[in-house]
Amino acid sequence: MAKLRTQYICQNCGAASARWSGRCDSCGEWNTIVEEAAGAGIGGAPAARTVRKGRVLALEALDGVAEEAPRLASSLSELDRVTGGGFVRGSALLVGGDPGIGKSTLLIQAAAALAKVGQRVVYVSGEEAIAQIRMRAQRLGLAAAPVALAAETSVEDVVATLASGAPPRLVVIDSIQTMWTELVDSAPGTVSQVRASAQALIRFAKTSGAALILVGHVTKDGQIAGPRVVEHMVDAVLYFEGDAAHRFRILRAVKNRFGATDEIGVFEMTALGLKEVANPSELFLGERDASSPGACVFAGMEGTRPVLVEIQALVAPTALGTPRRAVVGWDSSRLAMILAVLEARCGVRLAQHEVYLNVAGGLRIAEPAADLAVAAALVSALVGTPLPPDQVVFGEVSLSGAVRPVAQAGARVKEADRLGFRRAVMPEAGLSDARSASGLALDAVTHLSDLVAHIAARGEKARSIAAGGRT
Ligand code: TYD
Ligand code: MG
Repeated sequence: MAKLRTQYICQNCGAASARWSGRCDSCGEWNTIVEEAAGAGIGGAPAARTVRKGRVLALEALDGVAEEAPRLASSLSELDRVTGGGFVRGSALLVGGDPGIGKSTLLIQAAAALAKVGQRVVYVSGEEAIAQIRMRAQRLGLAAAPVALAAETSVEDVVATLASGAPPRLVVIDSIQTMWTELVDSAPGTVSQVRASAQALIRFAKTSGAALILVGHVTKDGQIAGPRVVEHMVDAVLYFEGDAAHRFRILRAVKNRFGATDEIGVFEMTALGLKEVANPSELFLGERDASSPGACVFAGMEGTRPVLVEIQALVAPTALGTPRRAVVGWDSSRLAMILAVLEARCGVRLAQHEVYLNVAGGLRIAEPAADLAVAAALVSALVGTPLPPDQVVFGEVSLSGAVRPVAQAGARVKEADRLGFRRAVMPEAGLSDARSASGLALDAVTHLSDLVAHIAARGEKARSIAAGGRT
């Protein structure tokens, strides 16, 4: 019998080495290397030594008939928005997210919706017992939907079940970390197991034309646990985000072979499961305290949809040599840049102040268009003057302090108009676009110092009115 070879695989990046070590040479992570059997398995090297002669392939031209990928719309429009119009048949989709964020809830809702319209849907759970899934479905009012359930972790059994009987249209595997195949000797959840299991399931999806959804857990540092490798194998990767303190959940595509990756889907976690939020701005602005200094409404875009959200800043004097800067929902290096521009180009000194910045509602903003709104919130907090409650702000700020144009000014002001805002502070370049899209009063700013002067003047005026009132 051949000697069983073992190799050492980093559970973080998947790199293989011949020796164990405390630290992975490839990704630098500590304590991630695990001994696994080598050579065997779907993901391993070929077992047979005799290799057949290759077949000559017919090469095709780039220019040919390209069919639109056949889609399976899930009646959850926020989910379909993120996938680009529904699940693609024969494709694999990975849904990642923290434990308890609502992945199983979202997928049982999608599965039930598709089953209700007559599609054959199989839901395989490796984490929960049938009774648990049934109880959840009953609570969500979905028990009547003809979803085929299984509580199973063996990939061989799952594939054999799927291959017998009517071919399924949608297969949900919750989660890929619990699946194991006999072809690999390692424990479930290890890189080789996850990779081999995913490969076998994806192969089934490709040959049968079913849409496959894999659920993946996320580690503390935000990666899909262990199998980064799975991200490369699937056609699309969606992340389900949000924090326990908020009801809002955001579904975001980080990879999509069949659609755009900048769309987000917004859901609200309720006692009756996840509810779609068609107008996220109304939700994000719902708990707004417009009269406090340091709050500024940013007119942002998420994909093709405008999203208004409040940016909150708190500025407090400190005696510390290096004052604290804390950011939630925005990029901390971008905040450092805005603070530096305010100091160097506008004479606003925040070096003796702690700065806290928060994007309300748990949304994470990646757009540079938020620069101007962040600056406005910071200056308003420093001066102690609230901004006009009916005003939105957007624009990118360059290192020189110049305010640069951003895309889709028209869509941004139109959304602000719809939600009852009356004025917008924005870059000059988008003015004509914005003017034709809405009836808002538009203030164009060309340099950040214009905005600072404007807010400072507002503060002076407020103070003189207050002083006048007292005498
Ligand atoms: P779940 O879908 O099990 O999360 P995941 O699969 O990502 O681990 O969601 C679990 C959480 O959602 C749990 O903390 C309770 C909450 N929840 C509700 O608030 N309402 C509901 O109707 C359901 C089903 C769950
Ligand atoms: Mg779950």
